[in-house]
Amino acid sequence: MSLDVDLTHINQFLGCETPQAWVQAALEDQETMLIDHANCEKKAAKTALNLMFKYIDRDELLQKMSRLAREELRHFEQVTAIMKRRKISYRQVSASRYAAGLMEHVRTSEPDRLVDILIIGAFIECRSCERFAKIAPSLDAELQKFYISLLKSESRHFTDYLSLAEKAAGVSIEDRIAFFREQEKELILSGDSVFRFHSGIPA
Ligand SMILES: [Fe+2]
Ligand SMILES: [Fe+2]
Repeated sequence: MSLDVDLTHINQFLGCETPQAWVQAALEDQETMLIDHANCEKKAAKTALNLMFKYIDRDELLQKMSRLAREELRHFEQVTAIMKRRKISYRQVSASRYAAGLMEHVRTSEPDRLVDILIIGAFIECRSCERFAKIAPSLDAELQKFYISLLKSESRHFTDYLSLAEKAAGVSIEDRIAFFREQEKELILSGDSVFRFHSGIPA
């Protein structure tokens, strides 16, 4: 199987690799993984739209987020189509602690707030990409093909968020990236009582 995407920059950006215990939990509960994945695509589109309403004076952000939101909604349609074929009914699944655990560190003044939200967006896209690549080889042909097809757009979303964050800051954001890298790593490597697409180590 060829991923057809160079994941070097993705793996270098993250502070840790997804633990094998998460992959095992995902393989054992693919129904929850797919439902939560559908939710994640909706939330990704919502985040992009929220930024478009708040920062109307930033044209590059508006254009990139508009395209991103459309792509995330398309992903949502694709996941739910797979769910239907598998007779998985779309039920309420609570959000994982992951995004909220990152968002609690967002600074309140501007442009710091925007910079932090964009950096978090970069980490979420980056981790999603890493997880799609990590689990794809163990999935059935249909899901494997789908998850590999998502890699390219999620990898571009990652770089879009990162470059928008750099531009919004106007100064080096390396320290801020390093800070969120640690927070993200902690959420991925610590015990988590619920299994979700972005959950930590199954407790
Ligand atoms: Fe997506
Ligand atoms: Fe994305």
